[in-house]
Amino acid sequence: MRILGFETSCDETAVALVEGNPPGPGTIIHQELYSQLLEHKAYSGVVPEIAARAHLDRLDQLVAKLFEATGIGFNDLDGIAVTSGPGLAGGVLVGLMYAKALAQAQSKSFIAVNHLEAHGLTPRLSHGVAFPYWLLLVSGGHSQILEVRGPRSFIRHGTTIDDAAGEAFDKVAKMMGLGYPGGPAIERLASQGRDDAVELPRPLMNKSGCDFSFSGLKTAVRRHLEQGQGKNIEGMADLAASFQKALGDCLIGKLESAVFDGDNQMKTLVVAGGVARNLHLRARLDILASKHGLELICPPLELCSDNAAMIGWAGIEMLHVGFTDSLDVPAQPRWPLRSEQYS
Ligand code: KG4
Ligand code: ZN
Repeated sequence: MRILGFETSCDETAVALVEGNPPGPGTIIHQELYSQLLEHKAYSGVVPEIAARAHLDRLDQLVAKLFEATGIGFNDLDGIAVTSGPGLAGGVLVGLMYAKALAQAQSKSFIAVNHLEAHGLTPRLSHGVAFPYWLLLVSGGHSQILEVRGPRSFIRHGTTIDDAAGEAFDKVAKMMGLGYPGGPAIERLASQGRDDAVELPRPLMNKSGCDFSFSGLKTAVRRHLEQGQGKNIEGMADLAASFQKALGDCLIGKLESAVFDGDNQMKTLVVAGGVARNLHLRARLDILASKHGLELICPPLELCSDNAAMIGWAGIEMLHVGFTDSLDVPAQPRWPLRSEQYS
């Protein structure tokens, strides 16, 4: 199967041509990406209006470049897949309308993809992982612990009750004057610091259940900075390392609770989303996985951040089991992965 995938839910305008059959691995034939990082940098975050306009400006060029580079045309496609949520409303709408128009004009199967599900299916694209598996999904907008049973079939064990993990990285980095995106900047700085130097809370860790909370952790960092501590380079590195460790403790602790409670027929633990790029987190997940007899699968770094290959692959997964969508499917800027929604 060969699918053209589109991703426009945040600040990456991305198009990819993906080929393969579930369970994978699949082949990414070609990707074209316009990263809007510089357009948003001055604002220390993504500006929705700027993002939507940039998607609109670039999509045509990216598709033309992709077809030119591969020599593949619409006749060679089995379908068109696009993120229809969750994400910034303007960007999602631009991509969705664009993909719908192509599907209609070229009479192609159309698949509306949940962006979070696409992150979660990425290890099948990269490694051909078999269902079911544990998924720690940690991105800029979401933090969830899921059991992935199949396309559009999940059981959610935990979610954040306030900030997402990536959002916490970004907000703390902003407070520390490290710029956007915050995750990579904190990870770099943390490598030079002591992770036990600053005492920080681990919210909800003494409570039962698998939900996360990161806003108290963020507030503690703010207080630490307001007290004038950690202003020199060494202090900043210690703060970054202590924050990264505390956030990691929360993720690992709740994931372990889920693994204890959950279905022990699962043999694989998968991490996905932008925060999955964090090597400190990967090392800790590796320890957790060994302890519980699970195999840890981490997609390649470039497939953890937002990309269109994961959307194309999710389209292949859906088409394979006969899921297609009609052209009146709405944009869903808020679309959490909930068990009851799909299973
Ligand atoms: O999945 P993603 O590319 O976009 C969303 O769907 O949100 O995730 C972006 C998030 C940002 O919050 C960014 O700071 C975080 O992933 N991130 C990291 C790292 N690289 C990106 N967080 C921690 N460590 C990293 N190395
Ligand atoms: Zn994402």
